[in-house]
Formats: sequence, structure tokens, C-alpha cells
Amino acid sequence: MTLKKMVQNSKRIFITGINGQLGGTLNKYLSRYFNVLNNQENFYNLNVSDKSELKYFFKELSPDYIINCAALTNVDFCEQNKSNSYEVNVNGIRNIISCSKKNTKIIHISTDYVFNGNKKIYVESDIPDPTCYYGKNKLESENILRTSNRDHLILRTSVIFGETGNNFYVWVRDSLKNNHKISVVIDQISNPTWSWSLSEAIYKSILSNISGLFHYAGEEIISRYDFAIKIAEIHDFDQDRIIPIKTSDLDQKAKRPLLSALDVSKIKKIIDVEHPSLDYILKIIS
Ligand SMILES: NC(=O)c1ccc[n+]([C@@H]2O[C@H](COP(=O)([O-])OP(=O)(O)OC[C@H]3O[C@@H](n4cnc5c(N)ncnc54)[C@H](OP(=O)(O)O)[C@@H]3O)[C@@H](O)[C@H]2O)c1
Repeated sequence: MTLKKMVQNSKRIFITGINGQLGGTLNKYLSRYFNVLNNQENFYNLNVSDKSELKYFFKELSPDYIINCAALTNVDFCEQNKSNSYEVNVNGIRNIISCSKKNTKIIHISTDYVFNGNKKIYVESDIPDPTCYYGKNKLESENILRTSNRDHLILRTSVIFGETGNNFYVWVRDSLKNNHKISVVIDQISNPTWSWSLSEAIYKSILSNISGLFHYAGEEIISRYDFAIKIAEIHDFDQDRIIPIKTSDLDQKAKRPLLSALDVSKIKKIIDVEHPSLDYILKIIS
């Protein structure tokens, strides 16, 4: 084993939300290089609302990094169940900070939904202005971590997808496979992010030891409708089953930002994090 490999393996990582789409992919990715303390063999999903559980496990396991992927991500549910949303999306990070050792670095995943979606493409210094309760909670969670005096990294990302988990790609693929018609919005535009690339970006962020706030997302800025058409094309599904609609046609509880793409130039100046094209990703995951 090389010295570099030994140093990497010695890093102790705890992933919260390890059953989720990002947590699960991140576990697979990081377990190849680091000691993921709650990985498949030693699987454990801590409840970020349970302070005594957090305290016990963080003291026993003493992670070097906690990567917080635990969240309630159904934005309409959050809008209608505000106390549940606050408990996980805000108090979760508060609890992680207060229950872990001061020298544990915290990596927290945030979202383009902290922005109002009126600007087309957002840099890190743009002023957040969330339009829904989920976005407000995620912004508050960022602020709690930012002002905590803890070494931290906040990565904002957008429309995470992959071949498994609860995500837009899987919904479109499975609906069309089952010959269902789907209505997809033409006016929500963002840069979808492959969970595997995001995991790689987190891995490289750990190796480079970057701290602070960064955006990381896919390279292509695309509407949900055009993304769905690409998915249909790759699988040779009937595109006529995808009905273009406007966000205003839907009676959604949570107001979404419409143009919320994230500019990724800040992180790309520091680390080599190329995001493959959507066509390439769709080919290899389909
Ligand atoms: N999905 C996106 O498009 C997107 C976009 C931008 C940012 N993000 C952010 O990326 C992160 C990961 O999202 P994701 O897509 O992987 O979401 P996900 O698939 O919904 O995963 C979130 C995980 O958190 C778990 N969780 C919920 N309450 C918890 C609690 N009290 N304690 C511990 N775990 C709890 C969930 O478990 P259960 O399934 O058992 O409830 C789920 O496994 C989140 O911070 C999210 O805000 C997501």
C-alpha cells in the first residue's frame, strides 16, 4: 500500500442520510478510499434529531469528517409540514455541530433553492432569497454552520439524479417505460447534477481540504422538459408522452425558483472537478 493510500484510508468519515440518493452514492464512492464508519458492513443511519444518539456515536466513532446528506427534500411536504422540515433541515445541522467534537470538519449539502430564481445563473456571492420553506430552512442551516466557528464546507448543488433513488431521472424513465403520460415543466431551468460526479467533487474537496461556500452542479443549463426529452431519446421511449406545461399550470404548494442554475467556476479554479455531459451520463446509466 502506498503512503498516499494509507493516509487516505486513515480518514474517518460519517455520512448522515446514508440511505438517501446522495448518501448512498457517496458511501459507494468514498468507501473505495476512506474509512466510512457507517458503510455497508457497519451500516448505521443516525437520526439527526436525536441528540443523545448523535453524541454517543460521534464520541465513540470520532469521525474526522461528518458529511450531512440527511434532509427532508420533498419541498411540497416541507411547505405543509413546517415543524418536521425545521426539525431535520435546520435543527439537524445544529445538533450535528453541538454533538460532535470541535476538530471534526462538517461538510453540508445545500441547494439552488436558496435563490429566488430570477437571475438565470448564480455565483456564491449572490444574495439568497428563498421562495419556499424548504429553501428558507436550507439557508438557515447554511448560516448556522457558517457562523459556528467550525471548520466546514458548504456545497450548494441542483437537481441531483442517478440511476437509483428518488429523483427526476428515475421518475421520467419509469413513467415512460410503463407507457404513462407525464406533464413536465418547460420553465424550471437549472443544471442537473449526477450523484456520482457530486460524490467525486466531495472526495476531491476532502483531499484538497477546501473550506467555505462553493457551488457544484452539472455543466448544462436545461429545462426539466428538455431533460425529460433527452431521457426519452436515450431509452427510445415515445416523446409524445411528455406533455410540456408551465409551472403556473401546477397547483404546487411550494413556490420553486424558475431560473436557478449555479455557476461552478469558483470550485473549478481550485480543484479538477469536471462534470460529464448529460448525453454521456445518460448513456452510461441507462
Ligand atoms: N435531490 C435534489 O435534487 C437536491 C438538490 C439540491 C440539494 N439537495 C440536497 O442534497 C442533500 C441530499 O439529498 P438527496 O437527494 O440525497 O435526498 P434524499 O434522497 O431524500 O435523502 C435524504 C435522506 O435523509 C434521510 N433523513 C430524513 N430525516 C432524517 C433524520 N431525521 N435523520 C437522519 N436522516 C434523515 C432520509 O431518510 P428517509 O428516506 O428514511 O426519510 C433520506 O435517506 C440534501 O441536503 C438536499 O437538501 C438535493
